[in-house]
Amino acid sequence: MKKDRIKIAIVGSGYVGLVTGVCLAEIGHEIICVDNNKEKIKKLKKGISPIFEPGLEELLRKNMKKGKITFLDSVKKATPVCDVIFIAVNTPPRPDGSADLQYVEKVCIEIANSMNRYKVIVEKSTVPVQTGRKVKQTIELYNRRKIPFDVVSNPEFLREGTALNDFLKPDRIVVGVESEKAKKIMKRIYAPIKAPIIFTNIETAELIKHASNSFLATKISYINAVANIAEKVGADIKDISKAMGMDKRIGPYFLNAGVGFGGSCFPKDVLAFIHMAKEVGIDFNFLKEVYRINEEQRKRVVEKLKEILWNIEDKKIAVWGLSFKPNTDDLRNAPSIVIVEELLNSHAKVFVYDPVAIKNFKKIFGRNKGLFYAKNVYETIKHAEAVLILTEWDEFKKVDMKKVKNAMKIPVLIDGRNMFDKEKMEKFGFIYRGIGR
Ligand SMILES: NC(=O)c1ccc[n+]([C@@H]2O[C@H](COP(=O)([O-])OP(=O)(O)OC[C@H]3O[C@@H](n4cnc5c(N)ncnc54)[C@H](O)[C@@H]3O)[C@@H](O)[C@H]2O)c1
Repeated sequence: MKKDRIKIAIVGSGYVGLVTGVCLAEIGHEIICVDNNKEKIKKLKKGISPIFEPGLEELLRKNMKKGKITFLDSVKKATPVCDVIFIAVNTPPRPDGSADLQYVEKVCIEIANSMNRYKVIVEKSTVPVQTGRKVKQTIELYNRRKIPFDVVSNPEFLREGTALNDFLKPDRIVVGVESEKAKKIMKRIYAPIKAPIIFTNIETAELIKHASNSFLATKISYINAVANIAEKVGADIKDISKAMGMDKRIGPYFLNAGVGFGGSCFPKDVLAFIHMAKEVGIDFNFLKEVYRINEEQRKRVVEKLKEILWNIEDKKIAVWGLSFKPNTDDLRNAPSIVIVEELLNSHAKVFVYDPVAIKNFKKIFGRNKGLFYAKNVYETIKHAEAVLILTEWDEFKKVDMKKVKNAMKIPVLIDGRNMFDKEKMEKFGFIYRGIGR
């Protein structure tokens, strides 16, 4: 190992792995991005990012040009030539809510089989507490030549859409270690990033990630529950959130009422935390409620629609925004999926549009009677009987809403993200329904 540059392999080139690889290259390390999806590696070698994340492709190309980032399609090839290996593969939910760790285990076995000298193996994927022990046990079992290694837990807190900034300017870096040697190496890796590093034991680091994500999900479900009360009593949730958020003890983030949380993390991590607690004899009923409120919240926009339009069979409904949040093409667990399904089950004609996620949406829904894919918002609204906003893309803020209203058959606007000003929309002539106002 040279003094400051560390050769690092990142296994899994998805939203977390690729961002980690590109950012660690940017701060000076030599990176090998590994993925067993050959198509992804083929694209990456051409400097094409397989995912949409603002700024990622540019930074990828910049570091490829400098020779700081290369790609391989197998762990076996990457392990012998690096000092540190980050595991950033997917950990999807099983039907019972527990995390499926088969991909993590597979990578551990591959690493163990191809180790040639001391390695630091870093858990970057979100995993249940005590997975570090399993990782260690598995590598020991398959590492027949007894080559020394250390396991580290380094959970990731980035958000899709702002991932580069989140990685390079984090609030804190959490590192769970069990040896001084590994601690020193992790310190060197993150030295160029100006953020406090919290060193803990491995179990604590693993639990910090789950506790943090479930807390954020709780904030969202809490504000959505309050929003439902606000609606009934004539209060405005936007003002409530603003006032609550000004209290430093509460903070302004994750207090936007809407169609609920989605994405590849919150729903799965909440379920995994409930499951994990159960395994150690704790009934985490509180989190079950957080999850239930979220499931209910997704249905509320369709209920609002039906309250106004009554039967929606054969009615033309425009849906703006499909990704679970703006600035990403990620549709995993996006509220749009259940909402569009519900509209189609009610035999509505659904015209969907999203600035980047439409391609991925097509992969899920394909050709579907009653579902039409639009190239822009204006294509969705001609003779529409309602517009449903499910993602707060900036692009929608710039839409000429007067033009929208005039093109529609019935000007119903269900603003699932409280993007627009209620009074202004009503002035334009819309029948406006937000969430909690
Ligand atoms: N997406 C997020 O915003 C986010 C944020 C923080 C933490 N996490 C966690 O990080 C982990 C990864 O999430 P993601 O969103 O990047 O997933 P992803 O599905 O986008 O990427 C995972 C990648 O791992 C690859 N992979 C799987 N098995 C492999 C193997 N044996 N060898 C090589 N490559 C393999 C897959 O092909 C895929 O490209 C998860 O545990 C997730 O919970 C995600």
